[in-house]
Amino acid sequence: MKILKVCFLYQVLFISIILGVSTSLCAQQKISLNGNWPFITDPFDNGYFNYRLQPRSDGYFEDKKPSSPRDLIEYEFSDKHTLMVPGDWNSQRDDLFFYEGTVWYKKDFSIKKEVNKRYFLRFGAANYKTRVYLNGNKLGEHEGGFTPFEFELGENIQNGKNTLVVYVNNDRHPDFVPTVNTDWWNYGGITRDVELWVRPKNFIEDVRVNLSKNGKSIQVELKVNQLEGKNGIVKISFPELGLKEEVTIQDNRAKVSFNFPKKTKRWDINEPNLYTFTAKYESDTYTDTFGFRTIETQHTDILLNGKSILLKGISIHEEAPLRDGRAWSRDDAKILLQWAKNLGCNYVRLAHYPHNEHIVKLADEIGMLVWSEIPVYWTINWESEVTLANAKNQLAEMIERDKNRASVIIWSVANETPRGDARLHFLKELIAEVKKHDTTRLISAATEIHYDGKKQIIDDTLGHYLDIIGLNEYFGWYGGKPEDMHSISFINTFDKPLIISEFGAGALFGNHGKKDQRWTEEYQVNVYENQVKNLQKIPSLRGMSPWILKDFRSPRRPLYGIQDWYNRKGLVSERGEKKAAFFILRDFYNSWELKK
Ligand code: GCU
Repeated sequence: MKILKVCFLYQVLFISIILGVSTSLCAQQKISLNGNWPFITDPFDNGYFNYRLQPRSDGYFEDKKPSSPRDLIEYEFSDKHTLMVPGDWNSQRDDLFFYEGTVWYKKDFSIKKEVNKRYFLRFGAANYKTRVYLNGNKLGEHEGGFTPFEFELGENIQNGKNTLVVYVNNDRHPDFVPTVNTDWWNYGGITRDVELWVRPKNFIEDVRVNLSKNGKSIQVELKVNQLEGKNGIVKISFPELGLKEEVTIQDNRAKVSFNFPKKTKRWDINEPNLYTFTAKYESDTYTDTFGFRTIETQHTDILLNGKSILLKGISIHEEAPLRDGRAWSRDDAKILLQWAKNLGCNYVRLAHYPHNEHIVKLADEIGMLVWSEIPVYWTINWESEVTLANAKNQLAEMIERDKNRASVIIWSVANETPRGDARLHFLKELIAEVKKHDTTRLISAATEIHYDGKKQIIDDTLGHYLDIIGLNEYFGWYGGKPEDMHSISFINTFDKPLIISEFGAGALFGNHGKKDQRWTEEYQVNVYENQVKNLQKIPSLRGMSPWILKDFRSPRRPLYGIQDWYNRKGLVSERGEKKAAFFILRDFYNSWELKK
């Protein structure tokens, strides 16, 4: 019986030959709610709690209007007082530059409701805690600032006019992920796209494509969401590959396996071949594009499609390239990845949290490899079960969103976390969580160095549980003179590939002086020249992602006249000006090759 045969195949261990997905859900209508939304700043959470800090029954959950001149309502969502959505609030208004707290948003929209449709509200992300109300009814909540979430609207959506009210709070807290201390701006708000998704009663909810370890068969797994629990047929095809199959749905799932066509071209950094996938179920059509590739390690080598490669990278924060604030659009992604290409990069480290879907989809299309991470950053509360559950959830949401993207090759579970038993237990739990969702990609983290005064010893116990060892080191900036780096040796105690996930130095664009003068472009050049000259001597080095592509906002960088609330380690200024060190790294990447 077909389904049984297929199920057997599915048990075969699969390697990551996965695919870039530009998910465009045909037949499922997507209506953008982006635009100017009226908002109310609420620093004391007055719209949620009364003066005794009890939840209010008359909070700002709906767009209440006085019904007579005698009525007292002490808030209003005015069309004269709006914020752009998507967009953080800090960069939109001077009075919100440093703001941490609650902002209420409102959005009216009209819909011609159809009886045989289902309605969902989807947020690309909102930082940090979100509560969503429709026509005064609470739809739900979400915690975490960098992953998508959605609510089914059911009877809450009405034909004609609807009023959506969204509460967003970006307060920091020791138990949150990230915790209270970060070297990036705590941008609050609805920071990514908001869409109304209109789906048929029965629709295709999820797709996962794998390729067998031997590269000879493609496994497609589908999950459908159907109101009337009935089995049906789903038609699956890769039209350009001449593959198609009709499969019976069982328990809301369908699986099918195809022989991998010989003529199919792999997805690669120089030739990012993408193929269309279509699944039709009842009135629903699900269309994606996929790229076939393998990623694996062998001792200290990283192999893409079986060939050892160097990851010539750069770290990137999710900040707009030519304006203040969060990046969120495809146009932002185009400029950021173009700068990376200009540097000679084949790889980007999207720090320190999952970036928006546009940049990962674009990485699939242009052939850029991606390290993606969750904000388990510095001094997380390792003892808290709530914190662990939150970190696992953010990890799961990141992986489920990007599990089918060829460009994503590494999931990172932590950045510069202090060694300790509780931290190791926490991170081992996260590594287990990754494997629950995806056994096809490599796992890494920026581990902690052990310096014995002469040697930088790479022996963080966490390394035993990683596929790739990440390491941030700032020789020449946080200690040591750049020109002394030649005297430092790096000892990788693991028979695993090493990526220097960060090195760098600060410089103010246009500030010139001697190469030992801090904050000059010459000092930054001095650090880069000595770093690249010495790092390439490390036998197990297979990649680097220097810190960082662009100067970025940080509450830890107040130095007046130099930093002005920017971390100045960018190779590009906040106005898009390339510093001298940009060209040092570019020239190095153009010449850096694997030793035979
Ligand atoms: C650390 C950290 C970065 C930070 C950088 C710096 O390595 O990972 O988030 O911005 O150092 O100090 O500039």
